[in-house]
Amino acid sequence: MAIVRLDIDRPAPSSEQVLSGQENDVPRFIHDHKRSHTCGELRGTHAGEEVVLFGWVHNRRDHGGCVFVDLRDRRGLTQVVFDPSEAKEAFETAGDLRSEWVIGIRGKVRSRGDQVNPRMATGEIEVIATEIEVFSKSDTPPFQIEDDISTGEDIRLRHRYLDLRRPALQDVLIRRSKMMAATREFLNGQGFLELETPVLTKSTPEGARDYLVPSRVNPGRWFALPQSPQLFKQLFMVSGFDRYFQIVKCFRDEDLRADRQPEFTQIDMELSFVCEEDIYATIEGMMTAILERDGHEAPPTPYRRMPYDEAMRRYGSDKPDLRFGLELNDVSEIVAASGFKVFQETVEKGGMVSAINVKQQTMTRKELDTLPDQVKDHGAKGVAWIKVNPDGWQGPIVKFLGEEVQQKLGEALGAEAGDILLFVADEKRVVLDSLGALRLFLGKKLGLIDEKALSFVWVTDFPLFERDEEEGRWVALHHPFTSPKLESDEQRKIFTGELEGDIGALKARAYDLALNGNEIGGGSIRIHDREVQARVFSLLGLSEEQQRVKFGFLLDAFRYGPPPHGGIAMGLDRIVMLLTGASSIRDTIPFPKTQRALCLMTEAPGEVDAKQLAELKVKNTA
Ligand code: AMO
Ligand code: AMP
Repeated sequence: MAIVRLDIDRPAPSSEQVLSGQENDVPRFIHDHKRSHTCGELRGTHAGEEVVLFGWVHNRRDHGGCVFVDLRDRRGLTQVVFDPSEAKEAFETAGDLRSEWVIGIRGKVRSRGDQVNPRMATGEIEVIATEIEVFSKSDTPPFQIEDDISTGEDIRLRHRYLDLRRPALQDVLIRRSKMMAATREFLNGQGFLELETPVLTKSTPEGARDYLVPSRVNPGRWFALPQSPQLFKQLFMVSGFDRYFQIVKCFRDEDLRADRQPEFTQIDMELSFVCEEDIYATIEGMMTAILERDGHEAPPTPYRRMPYDEAMRRYGSDKPDLRFGLELNDVSEIVAASGFKVFQETVEKGGMVSAINVKQQTMTRKELDTLPDQVKDHGAKGVAWIKVNPDGWQGPIVKFLGEEVQQKLGEALGAEAGDILLFVADEKRVVLDSLGALRLFLGKKLGLIDEKALSFVWVTDFPLFERDEEEGRWVALHHPFTSPKLESDEQRKIFTGELEGDIGALKARAYDLALNGNEIGGGSIRIHDREVQARVFSLLGLSEEQQRVKFGFLLDAFRYGPPPHGGIAMGLDRIVMLLTGASSIRDTIPFPKTQRALCLMTEAPGEVDAKQLAELKVKNTA
């Protein structure tokens, strides 16, 4: 691979600079020698060539009267040999080198003959140095610049600039950069415009807590950092831009997890005159471009689709991992008449009993007894198990199940000798969450997941509203600008209030894209009709006053001809995490925050002077 040499192609100093001594600030070596190759580039075919390399001392070894240095840059390692019989001065300097010093060397490539080092891409050669320049020295780093180190993440994050020297992290960030380039190329080719939206703005309707910024010039007033550019991208549609995208930072103050950061990046887009299919096709094309750029074989399109209700019923998740089976089966009706009180009473109370058939797997009694630990966080009170043995069923609840119930269950679950049946009984939500989590746990534990597979699925037909039990009101599941999906007269009438009915059963024109059980994107077709919007607000219990305060500018804009439009935002960090196999979202972000939303390197958030607070008219009551 040829490297771009421009970055090192400094002009020689002018005579004035030489006379004024200014040129001394630049090491002579850099004037005299241009980088000829990177540290990952030289091969056997380069033997005999004169080369100039720059990089970090990865390690230094002395033997046989020579000094050996592995020189490292982000493209690889090259062995450099300092031989006193070739260059005495360089050999002496090399004797002082320590790890992570930055040097430049000039020398000649020599074939290593049959001494090839198969562990290095440049292992066919070494460079016999004739000249060396030390640009800077390094303290002993707090950890080895190597992959597979056992150093704790806190220490690595504190010295993130060193952590980022490790090949594994460099690889992730290089791939991230390429994925971003592929995204831009694809979307530019599809007629999208890359338009920016403000960072200092007003609260957006995504539903997490806002990060707030006080305004000095308007005491007592606050900006919110955007949770997404949602309202602005809709305004772009009102302005007629048609197809917008942005690779954009979003800020959400929420509880963090392995796949959540307070500050994360979306590939955000909005399109006019489209329906769901147009969005799906655009994203599938974009994902194919990203996957191919990252060296994956892109799965065929169109991707699978699954309504939300089906995803919940069969997989206990709105982001089902379809790489393996272990589906959930609602057996409420069958067990309603069983003699097992827990099941019977659950169904009587309007709850649910659902089961997973773990086909042809062995689990010890002890393993079965620890399954409840996997579900207790989701509220389940137990996991009942049955082993299907050739001579009959075995397990603590079998004695309560009559012959007929056993037979019906066996049929419904496709039970065969060698299977294990697992049951959870509770309210519907608890059962689906618990069995969904148990399914993922078992999929991993039993090795049922093809780690190389890329399994995309569009989850569609989300509920329009969900009940906020604490506040006793409906809230928008996606956001309040999402179109309802009203397919029947009955649904239309329930929506408008002409007919009494279950508001919670109404569906939205909202969709998520899941990849291998992770939500990597979500969006919706928006409301562009004022009456529909007004009805949604009233169902959400938002008064005119609240609507004005929150979204007045958008509602105003919608008085001037909003086109039909819709959009989606993809979680770039999560996509990078899944495609590179990074173990957490933190490893895909150059300077991430910890689970406690701290930056250990800069120690942000930090304290500020009383003077700054006084200027902002903000009191510190902490
Ligand atoms: P949503 O809130 O679903 O939609 O976000 C879109 C995608 O962003 C990713 N994501 C996150 N990634 C990392 N850390 C987080 N804290 C985080 N939160 C979300 C997810 C998610 O699918 N404005 C709407 C989109 C639209 O309607 O067009 C929105 O933001 O992968
Ligand atoms: P018990 O009658 O409490 O000893 O429970 C018998 C079996 O049923 C045990 O294996 C429990 O784990 C299981 N069990 C108890 N409650 C539930 C529940 N809500 N759902 C599924 N299994 C349960």
